[in-house]
Parts: sequence; structure tokens; C-alpha cells
Amino acid sequence: MTNSLPEVPENPTGFQVLANIRTILEQDPETGLKTVQQAFASELERALAAISGQANDFEALKRIRLEFIGDKGGFTLANKQMRDLAKEHKAEVGKLMGQARGRLAKALETRNAELEEERAARILVEEAVDVTAHTPRRRVGGRHPINVLQEQMCDIFVGMGWEVADGPELESEWYNFDSLNFPPDHPARELQDTFFVEPVSSHLMLRTHTSPVQMRSLLTRDVPLYIVCPGKVYRTDELDATHTPVFHQIEGLAVDKSLTMADLKGTLEHMARAMFGDDAKIRLRPNFFPFTEPSAELDVWHPDAKGGPRWIEWGGCGMVNPNVLRAAGLDPDVYSGFAFGMGIERTLMFRNGVQDMRDMIEGDIRFSQQFKMEI
Ligand code: PHE
Repeated sequence: MTNSLPEVPENPTGFQVLANIRTILEQDPETGLKTVQQAFASELERALAAISGQANDFEALKRIRLEFIGDKGGFTLANKQMRDLAKEHKAEVGKLMGQARGRLAKALETRNAELEEERAARILVEEAVDVTAHTPRRRVGGRHPINVLQEQMCDIFVGMGWEVADGPELESEWYNFDSLNFPPDHPARELQDTFFVEPVSSHLMLRTHTSPVQMRSLLTRDVPLYIVCPGKVYRTDELDATHTPVFHQIEGLAVDKSLTMADLKGTLEHMARAMFGDDAKIRLRPNFFPFTEPSAELDVWHPDAKGGPRWIEWGGCGMVNPNVLRAAGLDPDVYSGFAFGMGIERTLMFRNGVQDMRDMIEGDIRFSQQFKMEI
């Protein structure tokens, strides 16, 4: 038994004593116990000093715990020898062990609690929310007045049972001009008025009005037909206070048996009243469009116009030209129709007193806000 005992270094440290309790006690039962007792005390002191001096965070505290009571800690090694100690030493060493470990456990626990408290206090400060602080206001966005007006105009017709139709902005010359009875040499077909798309042989262009939707609807829908079509149109105008190369129109087309100019007038009158109040009225002045015959310029009496009630040029209209009906495969002796079209930017200008068309294009939200848009 004695042979297998490991060598104890000279002047062993507390740790070295604890690692060799059994040898020490067997070699010198007299002074051995004293040495062991001192070893427990000095190892405990070292542990407590480490806890108070180095355990600045949970990581460091964990390292200290491992150093003393981990697998290779002095107290653990001491504990492992307990069952091999001579009977007369067991109780004594057991008592020393219990006291030392008890105090160490308590110190570890206390320090752990302190660290936890510190952490909680730090989080309270770091993650504090100042409920009185101003936050940047998030804008929800709003609809453009042009879109809103466009929809309001459509609604007037939807309320009468009309349908909303649409067509492409990139349009073929045939729909935009030929099918609407424009002669081949009509000035609107000139490059300086219309955006054509290359190659010229494609005969594609940006539609100059919403009227091509008249023919598109006639060819795809059955008669009787009552449609409105809002949308963007393009002309080679320079942008200024009253012109823009891209703007919006709303088109109306009704084709049925025995429609007359009285129906056109009644419809436009209703629209004018719906938009400008009961005192609004309309007037038609002779004009020319290739796709309507007779054709008229439409004026509206705006009772609340800026600067007082007055007549304002609003759009074009007329009875659908028999040539257009024929191109759509309808017999002009059986069917007749009326059509009208007006600019939406222009309508917004005189309806709401907007002076400069560029305000509608620039996207400055202060413009939309004037219309009580929620932004
Ligand atoms: N398309 C014509 C324009 O842009 C307006 C219009 C529409 C005229 C329908 C008559 C009938 O000026």
C-alpha cells in the first residue's frame, strides 16, 4: 500500500497537500493533520481572494469555480481520497472539507447574486425606453389628387350602370387614328405632335387621347355599350403652367339603338352637376373631330370658380361618326352613339383653383396635403 503512494513535493502548496492528503497523513499522522488543516485554510483563502479580486463577470466566476471545485480542483481531489483515509482521520478531514466547501459555495453564490444584480441594473439603464422622446413620424403615403378625381369621375358613371374600360398607353396608329376616321394627312399624325415609337414601320405610338379605347371597346364588347375610360395620354408639348407632355383624360362612349344628342347633353349635364353642384350647367359649341359628327366643344358653367362663376372649356364631344360604327362592324342605320372626352389635370385646375400644372407632376407632398390627403 505504502509503495503505491505518490511522492509529495517538499514545502507543498495548499493545493499539493490537498492532492496528497492520504500520503501526508500516513507518513506523519502527528503533524500531518495540522498540515492538512492549514492546506484547507490556505486553499480556501486563495479561492475567496480570487472571488473577491478577479470574479468581475460570470465568465471569470465560472473559471474560479472550476479551478477549485472542478474535476481537477484541490477540494475535489481531496474529496476523492476520503474513502481511503484511515478511520481516525476520516471524521476530522470530513469536517474540514465540509466547512471549506461550505464557505466556498456560499462565496460563489454571493458573488453570483451580485453579478446578477449588476447585470439587471445595467440592462435597466441600457434598455430604458424614453416614452417622452420624439420619434420620427412615419408618413403613410397618400393618393394623388389626379387619381382621386379620376376615380370620382368614373364613379358618377358607374352609378348610372356604365362600365369602366381600359386600353394600352402604347397604342397602334390604327386604333389611335385610322379607326377613328383620321385622314392620312391629319396634322396630329405629324412627328412634332405625337410620340411615335421606333421603328416607324411598327406603327406604334404613345396614345394621344383615350379615344382609341372607343374602338377597342366596340370590337370586344357587345352593344348596347356604355363605358368610361380614364388614363394617361401623351403629346409632344413642353412642360409649362398649362401644358404637360403626359396627362390624363377620361373618355365616355355610349352606343345603343336610337341615342341622340339629347342623351349626350343630359349625360354631360348630370356629370357637371355631380361635380360642380346643382347650379352647374353645360353648353355645346360646334367643333370638329374626325370620329364624331356632329362634334362639339363642351363648356361647363362653374358656379364656384375662383374669381366668380363663369363658363370654362372642359372637353370635346359629339355623336359617334357612322364611319367609326362601320369600322366596328355596326350598322349606323340601327345603332347610334355619343362620345366625350375631357382632361383630368385641367378639370382639377379649375375645380380646385390650381394655378400651375407643374405642381401636379413634381410630387411635392405639400401639394397633395392641400387636398386633405392623409399623408
Ligand atoms: N379625343 C378628343 C381629344 O382628345 C376628345 C373627344 C373625345 C372628342 C370624344 C369627341 C369625343 O381632344
